Amino acid sequence: MTAAPATADGAAAEEAELQIEFDALIAADQRIEPRDWMPEAYRRTLIRQISQHAHSEIIGMQPEGNWITRAPSLKRKAILMAKVQDEAGHGLYLYSAAQTLGITREEMTQQLIDGTAKYSSIFNYPTPTWADMGAIGWLVDGAAICNQVPLCRASYGPYGRAMVRICKEESFHQRQGFEILLALMNGTEAQRAMAQESVDRWYWPALMMFGPPDDASPNSAQSMAWKIKRFSNDELRQRFVGMLVPQAEALGVTLPDPGLAWNEAEGRYDMSEIDWTEFHEVLAGRGPMNAVRVQNRRDAHERGAWVREAAAAYATKKAAQAARAADSARSSEKAA
Ligand SMILES: [Fe+2]
Ligand SMILES: [Fe+2]
Repeated sequence: MTAAPATADGAAAEEAELQIEFDALIAADQRIEPRDWMPEAYRRTLIRQISQHAHSEIIGMQPEGNWITRAPSLKRKAILMAKVQDEAGHGLYLYSAAQTLGITREEMTQQLIDGTAKYSSIFNYPTPTWADMGAIGWLVDGAAICNQVPLCRASYGPYGRAMVRICKEESFHQRQGFEILLALMNGTEAQRAMAQESVDRWYWPALMMFGPPDDASPNSAQSMAWKIKRFSNDELRQRFVGMLVPQAEALGVTLPDPGLAWNEAEGRYDMSEIDWTEFHEVLAGRGPMNAVRVQNRRDAHERGAWVREAAAAYATKKAAQAARAADSARSSEKAA
């Protein structure tokens, strides 16, 4: 009668001690590594965030992949291919980081192709013009940088380290987008109009990438307490707009918000209300391109089945060869 409760108490005491150690690591700005104990909710939050982030990188290849065959010059094609390939790499670093938390790559892939996983709603918008390659680089990769630079200091080691390399590449992405828009803005009247029209379409969705306003973002406080997130959604959105304003001036494009103005007294930009209904619609899978994006991913997965089978067969063959070699080494040792 006494044994069972004593064990349960013991386990609870041990867990309380582990929690104290974990809290101390976080308070001291130390990193949590895969071998460390961590609260289940922390693990689950990270799996959700990192896998959604990985899915976004992979799905994010599609809107731009759309333009690789139609890029206006060999140079533009080479740059765009390199950029889209970087996004695949980002997906892979992030899937690897998520795997250290105990979820498999297969599980994550399955969630993406059966449509149960979320990814950034920005990639559910279409890319009808070449200027969209510029606006995506400038605005979407630009917003990604604002979001991701603080993630380099995320408390979970593998996530933070993956972000360091990703951020370096994102800077190139942002720069190449800016440069595409700059070339268009220095071009003909029609090219300038194309650049402006694209900025008009991407500006608001890019601002939505920071997530809902702070007072409607229930998970943010916990993520900040765990030092996964370092700044609130609204702080990051402000920082992004502050970065865009002088760049828009340099480009000669207009940011499509008549309410945008520097508020000297508060030391921040005033901006018009974001249309959150649109954000929630797209997030809920009813954006212009949701179905197409997931269907393309599913098709690519099916088309790649033979590669996965061949790789698995090769790995099995190699393992069998290694086992045979070890066997014969052992028997010749015995003989000698
Ligand atoms: Fe990326
Ligand atoms: Fe990028």
